[in-house]
Amino acid sequence: MCGIVGVIGKKNPAKIIIQGLEKLEYRGYDSAGIFVTGKNKQDYLVKSKGRIKELKAKLPQEINGEIGIGHTRWATHGRPSELNAHPHTSEDNRFVLVHNGVIQNFEEVKAKYLTNYTLKGDTDTEIVVQLIDHFVLTEKLTTKEAFRKTLAIIEGSYAFALVDKEEPDVIYVAKNKSPLLIGLGKNFNVICSDAMAMIEETKRFVEIADQELVTVWADAIQIEDAKGNLVRRESYEAQLTLNDIEKGTYPYYMLKEIDDQPAVMRKLIQAYSNNQQELTISQEIVTDILNSDRIYIVACGTSWHAGWVGKQMLEQYTSTPVEVHLASEFGYNMPILAKKPFFIFLSQSGETADSRQVLVKINELTYPSLTITNAAGSTLSREAKHTLLLHAGPEIAVASTKAYTAQIAVLAIVAKVIGEAKGNLKALNIDLVHELSMVAQAMEVLISRKEVLEEYAQTYLEDTRNAFYIGRGIDYYVSMEAALKLKEISYIQAEGFAAGELKHGTIALIEEGTPVLGIITDANIASHTRSNLQEVETRGAHTLIISMSGVEKATDQLVLPKVHPMLTALVSVVPCQLLAYYATLQRGYDVDKPRNLAKSVTVE
Ligand code: M6R
Repeated sequence: MCGIVGVIGKKNPAKIIIQGLEKLEYRGYDSAGIFVTGKNKQDYLVKSKGRIKELKAKLPQEINGEIGIGHTRWATHGRPSELNAHPHTSEDNRFVLVHNGVIQNFEEVKAKYLTNYTLKGDTDTEIVVQLIDHFVLTEKLTTKEAFRKTLAIIEGSYAFALVDKEEPDVIYVAKNKSPLLIGLGKNFNVICSDAMAMIEETKRFVEIADQELVTVWADAIQIEDAKGNLVRRESYEAQLTLNDIEKGTYPYYMLKEIDDQPAVMRKLIQAYSNNQQELTISQEIVTDILNSDRIYIVACGTSWHAGWVGKQMLEQYTSTPVEVHLASEFGYNMPILAKKPFFIFLSQSGETADSRQVLVKINELTYPSLTITNAAGSTLSREAKHTLLLHAGPEIAVASTKAYTAQIAVLAIVAKVIGEAKGNLKALNIDLVHELSMVAQAMEVLISRKEVLEEYAQTYLEDTRNAFYIGRGIDYYVSMEAALKLKEISYIQAEGFAAGELKHGTIALIEEGTPVLGIITDANIASHTRSNLQEVETRGAHTLIISMSGVEKATDQLVLPKVHPMLTALVSVVPCQLLAYYATLQRGYDVDKPRNLAKSVTVE
């Protein structure tokens, strides 16, 4: 989704803005732009469709100024184009604005206030900058007053950075539902959608709450609530280093992040172990879950897939029924809830708008909730009653890998701790620390066999238009994730199916050479999945079998090291991630930045 950066008080804001935008590239975008001004009154507004490198190529050699804002746009209203790229300017070019989010009532606002304005592009954002201009001109308001009045009128999600060329020593910012942070420096300040964009400039950040308006000078900031009351808020130090966000010698972040997974498993063991080397989570979370009669897992995409594996673990260890819901469906189509529901929000970014709108409703209903996220201080973390962190380190590739396995590992820990508290025998008997260490080792074995997966990607996925992953139980849930990985970066139309369901319709799609990849880790259902693979092979499918040691057959193409039956997803997903990675490389696509996708989906 869109990314915002801004700098005030630094000599070369353009350079810092471009560097910041490059660090936000991972969020996904289709155009970018930058505005710089300063006391010498010379302005630079440069916008470009496409990548940051195209924007960079258009920038003048030297840009003087002390204040600037930049933006990467992921189009919602108006096609990706230079015209629709941000920053947007008012009709008289006095006000310059960047925006992340969606203004829902922009048509009404336009009709009510802006009939005299000629709009330059097709975005919802432009309405906002014109409206500020309108109030300054017609009601003689100050810029801040006009901005506040505008914020009270517009509806939707936003993070804004506003510059008034007549006040070239200040940036006004505001947010509602979309992320935005202020970074504090010595005689300079910055703004950014994500701390990683500005971590080279500062490690000290201040959060902004929804509907606050912040005035940012080079040497001070002032936070006000929607009514104009001053708000005091402490800054915090971001637990992030430049190293965390660099890919080092790796060609792509995705490969680095796949390789990070064993270390993340070990980090999680450490982070959730007490002095007696027992896994533990806060007693308040345990009490809330023990008091509930049903757990609802709410998530999107890969996190939703992790939720399905979590359901299996939680139900088996805690005997509490668990439902898994897509956030985008749940919010507007809420099922009849149990008497004492407990909600788990799974979100790598902690910023996903679909999940957040559910959490807002859940909070209104005063139900207890837990966010499991990779981003401490993220919106979902702040707004849920409890948080458990994934400790996976920044995940930058759009295709989620290590966050998925970290989510499953954290859910396993929750299941074990709650199960133990309930006296569940399965939970009491599993040595989860040991089993997760075995998972880390198994992941390492697979990661060391990359060339095999590279070869399979070539043999099975080269030139194919479509592909199917099939499995049963946990293997089915992994099949869904494996298919998502493959389709989102290689653009092969891939689907994950419950193996037994194929013959109820989808088998009609099997043709000579159609790749069908079977995942088999569970001895109880192995023979059934094998029969289904046989059925498609008979109809011409090109089958590849990934099985777990103990249920393997000599003809299986890849045998996974054996791990605890509850944790097989953590291992079987790794070759699928690698297959997706290599299939994408072989097709010549950008692995980390697939078309149309954003890392953090901050619009509903
Ligand atoms: O940050 P979240 O986990 O809430 O994101 C949810 C989905 O957008 C995300 O998992 C998406 O499906 C993955 N990037 C796909 O690899």
